[in-house]
Amino acid sequence: MATIKCIGILTSGGDAPGMNAAIRAVTRRAIYSGYRVKGILRGYKGLVADEIIDLQSDSVSNIIQQGGTMLKTARCEEFMTEQGRRAAYETMKKQGIDALVVIGGDGSLTGASIFAQEFDVPIVGLPGTIDNDLGGTDTTIGYDTALNTIIEAVDKLRDTATSHERLFFVEVMGHTAGYLALNSAIASGAEAAIIPEMHTDVDQLGQLINQGFRKSKNSAIVLVAENPQTGGAMALAERVKQEFPQYEARVTILGHIQRGGSPTAIDRILASRLGAAAIGALLEGQRNVMMGMRNGQIVYVPFSRAINHHEKSIDTGDEDLVRILSI
Ligand code: F6P
Repeated sequence: MATIKCIGILTSGGDAPGMNAAIRAVTRRAIYSGYRVKGILRGYKGLVADEIIDLQSDSVSNIIQQGGTMLKTARCEEFMTEQGRRAAYETMKKQGIDALVVIGGDGSLTGASIFAQEFDVPIVGLPGTIDNDLGGTDTTIGYDTALNTIIEAVDKLRDTATSHERLFFVEVMGHTAGYLALNSAIASGAEAAIIPEMHTDVDQLGQLINQGFRKSKNSAIVLVAENPQTGGAMALAERVKQEFPQYEARVTILGHIQRGGSPTAIDRILASRLGAAAIGALLEGQRNVMMGMRNGQIVYVPFSRAINHHEKSIDTGDEDLVRILSI
């Protein structure tokens, strides 16, 4: 196994609060162990197009509190082709990068896994996504901050929903997973959560809404996970408006605001611990694993498990919890 002297870091896919804290931790822990560190700009795009910067300890000063990613991020079509990955490998050789730390979600780690196998490159991944949809880890970098952003917005919507006695459908991100919708529903005291993992029909939803409207405040908030297949909150609201014209319904789509903002303490600590541990993993000779956190312990999760959507299942009993706690 070739000795690692220089480590490249990149952030890829949708940005997530805490990515900067992860870049800082990886960089400083690597320098501490005597490695050189290079930052790859715009995710795999920078690897394909040779857009690389040197990272020193002071390059990552004053970023732990910042959302976004100082390395920029992108979704790279070219890296999905063998030709693109070969160009990426050539850049690594030219730049003297011996190993990679990839911070991103399932698409980014899928790319990492293919690249690692094709070109025998040592890669360690960090779970960086607000969606929390990676297997083998209880949580992902950015998820806690996004949850807090959502509940802050829902608390505000609750004020106006109560005043106007309205029904609000609030659409949140999550890709194909309902973690953000379900847990923000619990945390904001919403009347219901509609998530892809559960197939709630309009009748069931009607019951949930009626339940909400039985309360003295006469308003209801339903958290809806984005879902291109069903049309998300807009389509749902249209159906409900037809079946329950007695309720005045409004839709709020929170959108990319959920991806921004200063990371919470939880995300900064998670990113710092996992980022430092990624370098420890490379030192130990680990390859093609994602760093995860299970029950407060750092774990190595093979890429194949991390990106397997069946590996982590949402606790659908929590949907009952939302209902029971809002009666
Ligand atoms: O994966 C993160 C995420 O924010 C998803 O929740 C969402 O579906 C997607 O990215 C949006 O991507 P884009 O910023 O490319 O529109």
